[in-house]
Amino acid sequence: MTAKKQNDTTSCADNCSTCAPAQPQSAPKGLPPKAKVDVKNVILVLSGKGGVGKSTVSVNLAFALANTGKKVGLLDLDFHGPNIPKMLGIEDQRPAVLANAIEPVHVTGNLAVISMAFLLPDTSTPVVWRGPMKMTAIQQFLAEVNWGALDYLVVDLPPGTGDEALTIAQLSPNVRGAVIVTTPQDVAVMDAMRAAKFIEKLDLPVLGVIENMSGMVCPHCGDVINLFSIGGGKSAAEDLGVPFLGAIPLDPAMVTAGDEGRPYILRHSNTATGKAVDLVMENLAAQIDADPK
Ligand SMILES: Nc1ncnc2c1ncn2[C@@H]1O[C@H](COP(=O)(O)OP(=O)(O)O)[C@@H](O)[C@H]1O
Ligand SMILES: [Mg+2]
Ligand SMILES: [Zn+2]
Repeated sequence: MTAKKQNDTTSCADNCSTCAPAQPQSAPKGLPPKAKVDVKNVILVLSGKGGVGKSTVSVNLAFALANTGKKVGLLDLDFHGPNIPKMLGIEDQRPAVLANAIEPVHVTGNLAVISMAFLLPDTSTPVVWRGPMKMTAIQQFLAEVNWGALDYLVVDLPPGTGDEALTIAQLSPNVRGAVIVTTPQDVAVMDAMRAAKFIEKLDLPVLGVIENMSGMVCPHCGDVINLFSIGGGKSAAEDLGVPFLGAIPLDPAMVTAGDEGRPYILRHSNTATGKAVDLVMENLAAQIDADPK
């Protein structure tokens, strides 16, 4: 049996995995370096559950911010359900790939979009990727896209607190915080609380909670009908001690807007839902622009 290395009193001669002392390289990795992207405020749109309206909120928020004349990027990180291009009517477009960069799809003069959907051959091809591949893609979506100088980057995430949310929070500079979207039912609110706690664990501010699908606007008379209980989002915000940004009723026009690729905020009339969306976006923009605590 060979002698132990000098100064090494903890490991066997073979330095087997059981005996080997912890080396720096086997210690938990530190945070990865931040990607180089010129953006003042990154806003994450998160929820506990799917189908609660994250992508709808992301699209309308991006337009609300762009309408104020600011430069806005919209980054669709829902790798397994990238819906943003469809909601904007740009699902047939492809970003131009230049020598060292990807040109995002420009929706207006000051709103540019990148989505996994642009990289897929058709709308039914699934993405079968593990975490590390997503991390590489997110790094590229930040650092290798010609975003230009952005005032805001709105990030639409898949539901829950998985790789995508963690990776963007770690790789992106200037993450201003996250907005949590929920529907009113207890099961959705419970998961929304989880998402909010996750953001707090990352030492990021929760900018507020939006209660979507809160009651329904009757297509016949325009009155609001309370299909489910309402108020879950508001009480979640109170429990978390974060701003409640408002409630958006269910409105069939919102589904049509999404399916037809015409953002709701650009075309709604003076309906209860239209006013609610405007108010929520104003409240959210005010939170984003408020001094961070
Ligand atoms: N307030 C609303 N009223 C009616 N339909 C809505 C509303 N919010 C979202 N939707 C619709 O619900 C579906 C799911 O919304 P989406 O934004 O894709 O959710 P998520 O991104 O959280 O999965 C879409 O068809 C969308 O148009
Ligand atoms: Mg979505
Ligand atoms: Zn009615």
